Amino acid sequence: MKGLILAGGTASRLHPLTLVTNKHLLPVYDRPMIYYPIDTLRGMGIREVMVIVGGRSIGDIVELLADGGDFGLDLTYRYQRGALGIAHAIGLARDFVGDDSFCVVLGDNVLQGGHLKAVADAFETGPYDAGTLLYQVPDPERFGVAEFDDKGGLVGFEEKPKAPKSDRIPIGVYFLRPDAFDVIATLTPSGRGEFEITDVLNHYIPLGRLFWHEYDGRWTDAGTVESLLHASMLASAPQTAAE
Ligand code: G1P
Repeated sequence: MKGLILAGGTASRLHPLTLVTNKHLLPVYDRPMIYYPIDTLRGMGIREVMVIVGGRSIGDIVELLADGGDFGLDLTYRYQRGALGIAHAIGLARDFVGDDSFCVVLGDNVLQGGHLKAVADAFETGPYDAGTLLYQVPDPERFGVAEFDDKGGLVGFEEKPKAPKSDRIPIGVYFLRPDAFDVIATLTPSGRGEFEITDVLNHYIPLGRLFWHEYDGRWTDAGTVESLLHASMLASAPQTAAE
């Protein structure tokens, strides 16, 4: 399985912190933010990774991560012009991915613990074309939100709904296969002008090809001032033995 880290976007929710600095270089506790998605992919046993960069000071990201050797990774880079969304960024990786399955991690997602290798294996060996991890949050309207039927079956995802239909969201970890590139090519931008990952996930639900798993570690994004602070607290907290 290959890996993708998405480190583009304008990060306007973090202004003025991100006026001249790329969000993914900001400190989360004792390390730059982008070290956390790297850890996530390494935890799955992934070694071949592409970082999609965009926005400010991307040269600093390349200077920091270099060829990935210090992390035990083989790193390569791709530039995303504009902030056209997660699905658009993924679409840039078609040649890199080739015929392999792959895991996408958002550059501002901090995961602590969880059985990531087992989850990646379950996707890889299962009858699925796409997958994601669900997590319960107090403020679902900030995210993609899962909707379930009365039997607990997943019906669909809604991106940043005003009236969320549950408090469970897909975190920024997505498992995909090359088929996703054809789905992405059919998408149209959402109301916020982005090609949404939730539209990609939704495509696979009626086909019975979506894998989802309740994430059993601890998670936060770090894309707002409050969540950036929370991310530092999470990263500084000791892990329990179960994690
Ligand atoms: C993105 C996705 C959203 C997901 C979230 C997780 O939101 O669009 O579905 O729940 O990441 O971090 P964004 O970072 O664009 O606000």
